[in-house]
Amino acid sequence: MKKALVTGITGQDGSYLAEFLLDKGYEVHGIVRRASSFNTSRLDHLYKDPLVDDTKLFLHYGDLADAVQLVKLLYKLQPDEIYNLGAQSHVRVSFDIPEYTGDVTGVGAVRILEAIREAGLVNKVRYYQASSSEMYGKVQEVPQVETTPFWPRSPYACAKMYAHWLTVNYRESYGLHASSGILFNHESPRRGETFVTRKITRAATRIKLGLQKKLILGNLDSKRDWGYAKEYVEAMWLMLQQDEPDDYVIATNETHTVREFLEETFSCLDLDYNEFVGFDQKYERPAEVDLLIGDASKAENKLGWKPKVNFKELVSIMVDADMKLALQEKALSEANLS
Ligand code: NAP
Ligand code: GDD
Repeated sequence: MKKALVTGITGQDGSYLAEFLLDKGYEVHGIVRRASSFNTSRLDHLYKDPLVDDTKLFLHYGDLADAVQLVKLLYKLQPDEIYNLGAQSHVRVSFDIPEYTGDVTGVGAVRILEAIREAGLVNKVRYYQASSSEMYGKVQEVPQVETTPFWPRSPYACAKMYAHWLTVNYRESYGLHASSGILFNHESPRRGETFVTRKITRAATRIKLGLQKKLILGNLDSKRDWGYAKEYVEAMWLMLQQDEPDDYVIATNETHTVREFLEETFSCLDLDYNEFVGFDQKYERPAEVDLLIGDASKAENKLGWKPKVNFKELVSIMVDADMKLALQEKALSEANLS
């Protein structure tokens, strides 16, 4: 049985990846941060007491800022595959906390890479780095491919670039099987509620049921290449199954404005977004990434991976899931009133 260690397992991608690996028969270990309230809601359906059933998911306290604990975990677990998905992943927030973002999102990667060396796993383990299309920033080529030069536009993107190049460097310096997935935006019902797609689908469904009046957003003109998170995690796994490590763009090759995402969401609910959407400058970024669109031909040719869920289907999946949540919320508030 293969053993995988996942950082960021409590996040959107981490939870889908854990599900995917468990389905493949892996023993899955995840690093979770200690928090004052539960932060495992995306995993609760998977996590059961290992003493009373055969669940192969194990959670360990740790932090990407804590090198000693990472070394100890790697010694103890001796994993076959490591997926580094942990990050302060919010671009807007990275302008408020640039140093912390650099520490966790950037230096966090080198802490794991060094832990791999320290634990003597260089010739045994395969490493996946969650790189980002944000690294293309002020894009130098359309569409963006693996060879497109980077031009990061946020502290988050700068931190991801550091982690990306460190991954390349450990591959070249030590022969580590280390691959980077340069993933374009991917969304799902498990997307954090402060990212724009989920903020929109959550608000629109609540507005439909009279639970919310307005939705306040920032820049509606930026364009993103939005895919479905559940199918993007398979690409991560495929990268680690190759004989040779490499870097791959994972994208849909289609781009849409935030405004188009709004229109599509509200029209699914027979609403006109113009009646409900307001603007607040606080949601704008000091430097914006105007256009992202990726060409994932290399992934299709070498990994046999290509996206299946299109833009409209993605919106529909998210609206359906958030409508269920909104209905539960409404039923609860009515029960409390009666
Ligand atoms: P997410 O939902 O924000 O999840 C981030 C994960 O990182 C959470 O599990 C979080 O734990 C964990 N984390 C944060 N700080 C940490 C720390 N100091 N130590 C250990 N873990 C920490 O992000 P996602 O959308 O799943 O994305 C997964 C990865 O892919 C991230 O690295 C992200 O930057 C990258 N990425 C995402 C996209 C996308 O469109 N989703 C595209 C390209 C790249 P808590 O639950 O405790 O907060
Ligand atoms: N979050 C947010 N909130 N974004 C808004 C809002 C708002 O109220 N209003 C407009 N936007 C615009 C942002 O300015 C940006 O142009 C776009 O919506 C998308 O913002 P996010 O959903 O926050 O995603 P992101 O593209 O900045 O970053 C995501 O994708 C990256 C990959 O390209 C994150 O998941 C990153 O971690 C990931 O690397």
